[in-house]
Amino acid sequence: MEQEFWQARWRENRIGFHEAAPNSLLIKHFSRLGISAGQSVFLPLCGKALDLDWLLSLGLRVTGVEFNQGAVEEVFARLGLTPDVSQAEGLIRYQSGELALYAGDFFALAPAHLGAVDAVYDRAALVAVKPEDRQAYAAHLNRITGTAKQLLIGFDYDQSLMDGPPFSVPGSVVEALYQGSHEISLIEERAADGRIGERCNALEQAWLLTPFS
Ligand SMILES: C[S@@+](CC[C@H](N)C(=O)[O-])C[C@H]1O[C@@H](n2cnc3c(N)ncnc32)[C@H](O)[C@@H]1O
Repeated sequence: MEQEFWQARWRENRIGFHEAAPNSLLIKHFSRLGISAGQSVFLPLCGKALDLDWLLSLGLRVTGVEFNQGAVEEVFARLGLTPDVSQAEGLIRYQSGELALYAGDFFALAPAHLGAVDAVYDRAALVAVKPEDRQAYAAHLNRITGTAKQLLIGFDYDQSLMDGPPFSVPGSVVEALYQGSHEISLIEERAADGRIGERCNALEQAWLLTPFS
């Protein structure tokens, strides 16, 4: 049912979450992750974000997962890459060079699909998850990435003003989800633009999550 909701959004081109350029908070704060060429970054619920291209351009190994197969295929086409396509235990793996994207359900990913993950970049992924599934999302993300460090970009707004997704994920929720595994710091917050900014005065927030060693 959740999958059908998102597939309908893609079919009907209701993808206001897709940005026309790499996310500016990613560009500004990426270096805080302390990773460089040859290391790996995982993007849960990646859509067809241009963030993928930007991270690849840094020489990183980039892995993502996305329900919508068309979105995955569009990323490779956009990059001029012809992927190898294979079945991967319930998901479809598209791979070319340093880019591997899985078409299918995030919750079906196992650690073996990803291998070693040096960092996670979550933009509009946690906020896309229904509140009742957040705990499972965060626990699964930690499990499949070996509790990697994380740059997390989300929204904080008055949930009574708008139905999600994107849902409001205030600091108290980030704390509740990750305080057992990571040190959490808010590195920037700014007025969100677009519809969510106009309707709800939402704040767009960037968090750095550093695992306890
Ligand atoms: C709000 S969008 C964000 C996409 C991307 N991170 C971006 O910044 O453009 C959320 C995406 O997650 C996908 N999605 C939602 N639940 C998923 C799941 N359980 N497994 C895989 N993809 C999922 C949706 O199809 C949608 O493309």
